[in-house]
Amino acid sequence: MKGKSRHLLRATVLAAALLGGTAAAATHPWMNPAQSPDARAAALESQLTQGEKLQLVHSLFGEPSPDKGLPKPAGALGSAGYVPGIPRLGVPALQESDAGLGVANPLEVRPGDGATSLPAGLAVAASWDPAIAYAGGAMIGGEAHAKGFNVLLAGGIDLEREPRNGRNFEYAGEDPLLAGTMVGAAIRGIQSRHVLSTIKHYALNDQETARTTVDVRIGEQAARESDLLAFELAIEHGHPGAVMCSYNKVNGDWACENDVLLNRVLKGDWKYPGFVMSDWGAVHSAAKAANAGLDQESAGDAFDAQVYFDAPLKAALASGEVKQARLDDMVHRILRSMFAAGLFDHPAAKAPIDVAASMAVARRAEEAGAVLLRNQHDLLPLARPASIAVIGAHADKGVLAGGGSSLVLPRGGNAVPGLKPTSWPGPVVYDPSAPLAAIRALAGKARVDFASGDDVAAAAALAAKAQVAVVFARQWAAESVDAADLALPDRQDALVEAVAKANPHTVVVLETNSPVAMPWLDRVDAVLAAWYPGSAGGEAIADLLFGKVDPSGRLPITWPRDRAQLPRPVLEGAGAPAGAPPPASVDYGIEGADVGYRWFQRQGLQPLFPFGYGLSYTRFEQGAAKVALHDGLPQVSVAVRNVGKRAGADVVQVYAQVPGSTVRRLAGFAKVALEPGESRTVQVALEPRLLSDFDVAKQRWVLHGGDYALYVGRSATDLAAPVHVRLPARD
Ligand code: GLC
Repeated sequence: MKGKSRHLLRATVLAAALLGGTAAAATHPWMNPAQSPDARAAALESQLTQGEKLQLVHSLFGEPSPDKGLPKPAGALGSAGYVPGIPRLGVPALQESDAGLGVANPLEVRPGDGATSLPAGLAVAASWDPAIAYAGGAMIGGEAHAKGFNVLLAGGIDLEREPRNGRNFEYAGEDPLLAGTMVGAAIRGIQSRHVLSTIKHYALNDQETARTTVDVRIGEQAARESDLLAFELAIEHGHPGAVMCSYNKVNGDWACENDVLLNRVLKGDWKYPGFVMSDWGAVHSAAKAANAGLDQESAGDAFDAQVYFDAPLKAALASGEVKQARLDDMVHRILRSMFAAGLFDHPAAKAPIDVAASMAVARRAEEAGAVLLRNQHDLLPLARPASIAVIGAHADKGVLAGGGSSLVLPRGGNAVPGLKPTSWPGPVVYDPSAPLAAIRALAGKARVDFASGDDVAAAAALAAKAQVAVVFARQWAAESVDAADLALPDRQDALVEAVAKANPHTVVVLETNSPVAMPWLDRVDAVLAAWYPGSAGGEAIADLLFGKVDPSGRLPITWPRDRAQLPRPVLEGAGAPAGAPPPASVDYGIEGADVGYRWFQRQGLQPLFPFGYGLSYTRFEQGAAKVALHDGLPQVSVAVRNVGKRAGADVVQVYAQVPGSTVRRLAGFAKVALEPGESRTVQVALEPRLLSDFDVAKQRWVLHGGDYALYVGRSATDLAAPVHVRLPARD
């Protein structure tokens, strides 16, 4: 095209766009991206009818509900939740998909409807690398957007007080700073792809047993310094468009009608600008819930006794029990979050997905989050053994995923179909990323054979003939149910014992929801905690076993010796016979804010492996820590050197002991990758709230001042002598 006419064409196109844009802005001023989310929401609200406002404050279940005789709502893609749009005003529908590990497939899996699954949230947290969490969030957010979903019900951050919790694989460990930092980064990643993320389940939904009825008892200071602090930090880091309130009660009130949690803490103290959506079936009133701060009822048509935020809310508005201003605030919060996340400016629409790129993100996350717990005689990395026996956990087919609403059905289909339970909270799914094939790909000329482990003697015989035996052990877990104990199921302990007896050079790879008992630990050479490994888990595990990647994961949760060490040795109601009355309440006040490693410190207990622990194939030395004050707050610097022969990554952890306390708290951390011989000085800024106590009377954090002991090291118990610093008191 001649130069002159090209310029004319470009000018014409530009003019049209401006005019068109102006026209849109003229009739729909809220479409002007230069305005703030709040201003845009305010402009749009003024155009809404009361009926449209009520439409926005409750979602519909995005799937058929045969038991209620409800079809899938027209316009719903097919997922957890759906809010019809308002086309005359350009308001997009909300297409809400689960969840935090990837785009969880709808109940009706259509061909090719699969998605990429990250490894467990615990694996991402175990990377102690916010960049890994961000990349994972951006990947699943991108896949959601390309499938037409604009809300991802992600951001699982309930603290792991309970290693038997069936949903630990969805969460980010036991520590509020680690969990808040990692989940905040994941949410930022999701929302970078113009998909609104939630953060859930607010709050203290730290077990599945009796989750829809149990009353969690805990003091406010303890809650503020543990579970609520994790939410506070993640919300600051990630700015999630929505908070999902949980099923349980907290100190007597349902979480979704809990004025303290929603109005006083979340919206009052934290000044949260977004909206509170309920969990699916967690709403028990209209006026009380609305006035306590609930903004959107989720899928009440299918899961609640009635759709409270429809006729009952309308009646409450008419009677004045709920003020119109409250309904307007509910709508404002929903719309401003939709603007802030980009749902108007970048509408989700079907688009191709770069599957290879997604798989690379999932693989990298598992490689960074698997934790090497034991490595006697440097058995790992495998040094070209002549023969390898691969045993157990369907390693010839794939790697295990957890069950429930977060389950991502693989593109290639379930690698091991038909395992029970096949219905909720099943199906049991294996991602078709087979460790056996991945090990063979890296084993060169070695002979690599597989035994299922169903026949223990045959597995032991195979191990006896091989130079190295790699046993995969699995523990399936799922939403809505907790484990009654920490034991590996289905006689896998006997399998590991038999293999280790037949071959002392045995590696155990754990595909588990959470820490498990390991009675055979001293009789195996190596243990790799792979958690639920995700869509590329087999390749990632092989990369780690052969040393293509250095294991750099560190435990995000304390690994107990046995359940006697736990605040609640018996998890009341877990594993109880069907029909047994559920526990009415659970007392988290026993440990209070001292969750996990802090409980072990307070009680003088030695765990099997401590929080923050993890081995590498190389070795690091941390120099003496130096502390400088910046704006009156300590910043720790420490030189880390890789003194081994292989590249690797270390995690510098800083624990603070505040005056008057005997318990050390993680107050800062930093991961550093180093080539052999390389040394780098790492700066670790400390989070002031971990140096403070929450003063309930003053309703704010108070740093009391005085002598603070800072411990730098490589786990909650592997710490150098403390460095002391005097800090001025501050609120
Ligand atoms: C579930 C879960 C929640 C999920 C929601 C929608 O019961 O508790 O995590 O996002 O319902 O499936």
